[in-house]
Amino acid sequence: MTSAPPTKETTQESESFRAAMARSDQAWAALDRDPARFRVLTGDRPTGPLHIGHYFGTLQNRVDLQNRGIETFVLLADYQVLTDRDRADTIAEHLREVILDYLAVGLDPFEKNTTIFCHSHVPELNQLLLPLLTLVSVPELERNPTVKEEIQAANLKSVSGMMFTYPVHQAADILFCKSQLVPVGKDQLAHLEVTRKLARRFNERFSPETPVFPVPTALLSEAPVILGLDGTQKMSKSRGNAILLKMSEDETRAALMKATTDSERQIRYAPETRPAVAGLLRLLGLVTDQRPESWATQIGDGGGGALKKHLVDAVNAFLAPIRQRRRALEAEAGLVQKILAEGNARAREVARETLDEVRRAMHMDYGLGDTPDPTH
Ligand code: TRP
Repeated sequence: MTSAPPTKETTQESESFRAAMARSDQAWAALDRDPARFRVLTGDRPTGPLHIGHYFGTLQNRVDLQNRGIETFVLLADYQVLTDRDRADTIAEHLREVILDYLAVGLDPFEKNTTIFCHSHVPELNQLLLPLLTLVSVPELERNPTVKEEIQAANLKSVSGMMFTYPVHQAADILFCKSQLVPVGKDQLAHLEVTRKLARRFNERFSPETPVFPVPTALLSEAPVILGLDGTQKMSKSRGNAILLKMSEDETRAALMKATTDSERQIRYAPETRPAVAGLLRLLGLVTDQRPESWATQIGDGGGGALKKHLVDAVNAFLAPIRQRRRALEAEAGLVQKILAEGNARAREVARETLDEVRRAMHMDYGLGDTPDPTH
């Protein structure tokens, strides 16, 4: 099920959206035919533990791609946290939480071809930002719609250069490992366009004969947008309207009991007129693999109370195995460090090769040969 298409788009935007959808469909078909041909990269800003909206929005999809045998890079974009806030002192804790969430839902860097890594420890990736910055104009940076929205939303006293350049950094995230596919939500399409443009420009300017970078495709999934428990906005930890994967059963119950419903006794699935109840029915549908409409019929005149009771039981049952794994993983001393150290080393290896190639394409290798592997 897809969420309703945005209504206030200009024709041009919806055209590029349709084009992105079409490319994504083709990419899914190609993946089905030959998963081994592809490398996938996704990323998250480590700004807090993950919630059930992340699970149905992206995590489930990532685990599925991983389990099809596709080489998967998962980036914790720690520098990108510093676009709309200036302190880094909570990043370490968030990084740990997110990695535990990843492992709990089934991302598996030990048994599968999955690499979990972070910006701050992969210098060669960050260096790629510099050549890419030469390929973009300041007005282009200022025009990015996602950046403009984020500046508005964050209500910043002053906007740093990081805010305007992070989409270029994100291009480095994607291009360093030459991933052809980037599973993202619609909100990231503007950034993907930047990456596509920069890949093309780099190839045209520095390496027209043999392109260095593939032009990556956004892999859009059918993921529904999960409404927060307040019934008005997208689920998000910072809005306090989320069910975190790591919550206890009691915390889950308390959060769901406070969820917004409405005063109508009869439960019906009516997303337009009763969005809060519809959001809860959708969540109930997802965790039980049933249609929200059939839950509405089942609950009938049981009202918001019965709806919440079903939700508490179903959400807790659904998350039980994830939470159990997470608790076991939390208890393993040094696990998160081991995963990051190995992931960063692997990412550096890949980034170093790409950077050497980039230097050669730009005639900036100066006959010095390739960079020796710093990790050996
Ligand atoms: N901008 C993404 C977000 O806010 C996170 C991100 C950073 C990312 N680098 C990426 C996503 C590369 C996909 C690919 O969620």
